[in-house]
Amino acid sequence: MIAAVSPRKRLGILLSGRGSNFLAIADAIANGKLPDAEIAVVISNKADAPGLTAANQRALKAVAIEARGRKRSEHDAEIIACLREHRVDLVCLAGYMRLLSQEFVASFPERILNIHPSLLPAFAGLDAQQQAFEYGVKVAGCTVHFVDEQLDHGVIVLQKIVPVLDTDDAHALSARILEQEHIAYTEAIARVLSGQYCVFGRRYLPISES
Ligand code: GRF
Repeated sequence: MIAAVSPRKRLGILLSGRGSNFLAIADAIANGKLPDAEIAVVISNKADAPGLTAANQRALKAVAIEARGRKRSEHDAEIIACLREHRVDLVCLAGYMRLLSQEFVASFPERILNIHPSLLPAFAGLDAQQQAFEYGVKVAGCTVHFVDEQLDHGVIVLQKIVPVLDTDDAHALSARILEQEHIAYTEAIARVLSGQYCVFGRRYLPISES
């Protein structure tokens, strides 16, 4: 008898720029670190995003859906349609620089992840690493969380801590955080796809055996 091959979960990546987190996820899949996942589509709101070029170079499905001059609801509806067309199970925001509409969030309940370069709830919003550096914190880090209607607010899947060194400038700190982001995103996706974790209020916890 031939054993049934369990279908891989299909990731939809949304990005606006460089795409290093997307590439870390793609590398993790290529290296067998995310055996249950495949990238179904990479979507950018900017046609010239380097991350989109990188997706093309890797022969992944890469789609530009420009936001300029369009209503958020209209733009989001097109992205939702594209994600559905590609039968996406989990949406991963990887440097996607637009707020999602309520309709978008409601279309993929507990199925949209974001990565933010701070230990939330500290330093939400833009330039989080610079904010942390200027505040003078001694530890910084990154957070992978589910997306809800509020900015950088949804349930936390995991966080990684990064020390702030006395010799740091904001650039050096950002680079050290980015290294951890690349590890954190893969771990968070594996955690979510494992089906072994569940949201309890604001906490994301392993489902107990008992
Ligand atoms: C990362 O720092 C991520 O945490 C933030 O935007 C940046 C995107 O970088 N949301 P990249 O495009 O993945 O290299």
